Amino acid sequence: MPTTFGDLSRGIKRKEIDEAIARLGRKYLIFSGKGGVGKTTIAVNLAWSLAKAGNRVGLLDIDLHGPDLAAALYLTARLTAGEDGRLLPVEVFPGLWALTAQYLLSSDGEAVIWRGPRKIRAIAQFLEDTAWPKLDYFIIDSPPGTGDETLTIINLIKDLTALVVVTGHPLAIIDVHKGVTCLKQAKAKILGLVENQAGLICPACGETIATYPPENVQNLALKTDLPIIARLPGDPKATLMAESAQRPLVAAAPASLLALALQELAAKL
Ligand SMILES: Nc1ncnc2c1ncn2[C@@H]1O[C@H](COP(=O)(O)OP(=O)(O)O)[C@@H](O)[C@H]1O
Ligand SMILES: [Mg+2]
Repeated sequence: MPTTFGDLSRGIKRKEIDEAIARLGRKYLIFSGKGGVGKTTIAVNLAWSLAKAGNRVGLLDIDLHGPDLAAALYLTARLTAGEDGRLLPVEVFPGLWALTAQYLLSSDGEAVIWRGPRKIRAIAQFLEDTAWPKLDYFIIDSPPGTGDETLTIINLIKDLTALVVVTGHPLAIIDVHKGVTCLKQAKAKILGLVENQAGLICPACGETIATYPPENVQNLALKTDLPIIARLPGDPKATLMAESAQRPLVAAAPASLLALALQELAAKL
């Protein structure tokens, strides 16, 4: 095992957590061994697509050091506590509730120093001490790699399924390969690889420009024995439209190839 859960999860109320988790529906971890590959973008847009299709969806950000889920949702909400003192996720869209450590901070530049045991308690609290409504889907955005946050969530949620985000960049391939090895050691279930930035759609002519050879991710799929479940194009126009509308791209640019590919992936969950 990459870390010793026995020691780290002492004091966690297992029974309460199991009861809370049972209400969260299908649970997916958006994982990568690498930063900047699109985890948060994919988590937000999958959650939005599922909610738009009529599901009740929870979106949890366990990236405690770089929580940017709220920014990716274009929200500045602060967290509130319910009457019973439990955290209340923010309903960001009908049927979509989000919780991120970013909601705990008072300004953009503020940060919290988190150390191992505190991180584990915070993540347990996000599950057990939070008034999640009964959900169909629970999507978890994670920091890169297999640190305390990711290993804690794998340890706490037994029926969690990971989606592994990768790009064709050779360094991403190396880091994601290591990440998959750790996930497997931690006995996490993995649905498959999501190749992001698979080709770049030219904003001027709409043609797809090659980025990395498709063999890079295909070889990773062979080595890790995982299927490639989606290939998402790089789509600067769709992300610019999201930026100017201040809404996730599946809402701001629903007809873009990227939004369509994300919706297709959501339908597989
Ligand atoms: N398919 C894509 N097309 C265009 N831009 C993308 C795509 N996926 C991600 N991005 C951009 O790349 C940057 C990093 O994405 P992000 O989701 O924050 O990655 P991570 O959470 O893995 O660190 C963001 O600016 C995001 O808008
Ligand atoms: Mg992120």
